[in-house]
Amino acid sequence: MTRCSAPGKIILFGEHAVVFGESALALAIDLRITSAVTKSTGYSVNGHPMKKRHHAYVSASLDEAWNGPPIDIETSSEIPSGSGLGSSAAVTVSCVGAMLAAKGKFELESIARMAFEVESRVQGRASPIDTSTSTHGHGVLVSPEKLDNLLWRIEKGNIFWNIHHCEVPKLSFVVGYTGIHAATGPLVAKVRKLVDSDEKAASNISRIGEIVGEGVDALKRGDKQKVGKLMTENHRILNELGVGHSALDKLVEACRGISYGAKLTGAGGGGSMICLTDDVVQVSKAIANADGEPIVVRVGSDGVRMETTEVSRR
Ligand code: MEV
Repeated sequence: MTRCSAPGKIILFGEHAVVFGESALALAIDLRITSAVTKSTGYSVNGHPMKKRHHAYVSASLDEAWNGPPIDIETSSEIPSGSGLGSSAAVTVSCVGAMLAAKGKFELESIARMAFEVESRVQGRASPIDTSTSTHGHGVLVSPEKLDNLLWRIEKGNIFWNIHHCEVPKLSFVVGYTGIHAATGPLVAKVRKLVDSDEKAASNISRIGEIVGEGVDALKRGDKQKVGKLMTENHRILNELGVGHSALDKLVEACRGISYGAKLTGAGGGGSMICLTDDVVQVSKAIANADGEPIVVRVGSDGVRMETTEVSRR
């Protein structure tokens, strides 16, 4: 059996705009998904025969990374599915990682590339931010330009993403999970449609790119006030792009005045928001009072890693 785990993530700035090639900044979190691969007589996922429709990411990972005999895949997750915290990327990265490890080819850049192909295929359209963050861990800055600490460069069609290691700032975040499951693919498609037909939406995408740059500078200076202000602006723009939700606004509003700032994180449409604060207890209470599930996350976790490798006795 070969077992790998991979982390979820929060996007601090830049979701959706990154699909169009703008910059984005994500931090790996201390919630993980583990996938174990065992040689078998048929293909199965968590004890059930593998079906493309039910096991879209696992099955696409198999097409991308496996050409050996049939395998059983067992997954276990600490990340709620559709929560905006990168569960699809973490399941994909851990599966691809376990499959490559079983072939003796565990290598981070290959995992990141294959996992991006899987997400793109399943979602219809994607950027590499989630899969590269789950692979590398720590902090990841994606940008159209090559900067210091370049990890790898990924391209699709006419878009290039340069993936960089980013030092993880010493900041405390509380996630507020709405409990509303939101699939990423349709939200990405909705933004695409709006941007194709509306100039304001296109300029909003560019503004998000600028926010990422300003946010990275503010983080370097340790200017939490500015980071929080930019988070709040980023949230407003995501609402204008049509990926907000009243439950997210309620949680963001509950954090006003007791935090530096808050915004939805990930695809939106439900899922989760994040709040930057020095007082995780007070913010957690406010999120719970506003009908959200507070999750205090630690940022900067390790990327994909092999957990154990044993020779299967079957
Ligand atoms: C989802 O976590 C992030 C999005 O920007 C989609 C993507 O980058 O593939 C909404």
